[in-house]
Amino acid sequence: MRYSRYTHELISDAQDFSVSVPLENDFKKSLAIAGSKSGRDMDKFRELNLTITPGQKTEAPVIANCGLIYECRIMYRQPLDPEGLDETIKTRFYSDEDYHVLYFGEILACYKND
Ligand SMILES: Cc1cc2nc3c(=O)[nH]c(=O)nc-3n(C[C@H](O)[C@H](O)[C@H](O)COP(=O)(O)O)c2cc1C
Repeated sequence: MRYSRYTHELISDAQDFSVSVPLENDFKKSLAIAGSKSGRDMDKFRELNLTITPGQKTEAPVIANCGLIYECRIMYRQPLDPEGLDETIKTRFYSDEDYHVLYFGEILACYKND
């Protein structure tokens, strides 16, 4: 997650997170919007008609009818260290110094949600 993301703002204080993987093409348009618009500027759940339901093992909600769900407990956060980065990658992907923070999660539940 890059520092600039609203998602990072939310996850940085969280104990857990969920990953909802759409398995049907129905989500193609929603994915394109969710992956390019920020939750700071719009309520993605409402505007994309995504229904959230409680997770089974975590506080984080999951997206209903999304296909495949992972519920994870955050075990480790690792901000990317620019010192160790190859210059070409730094120039190509991080010229604005908006680095990624890596989140490692233990999978507490994995199931199909249909
Ligand atoms: C296929 C795809 C993968 C993406 N992967 C990441 C990622 O790993 N980390 C990240 O910070 N942004 C990633 N993005 C970009 C964010 O989804 C995008 O900036 C989004 O608007 C962030 O929304 P937010 O501000 O509500 O978090 C990805 C976008 C797409 C389309």
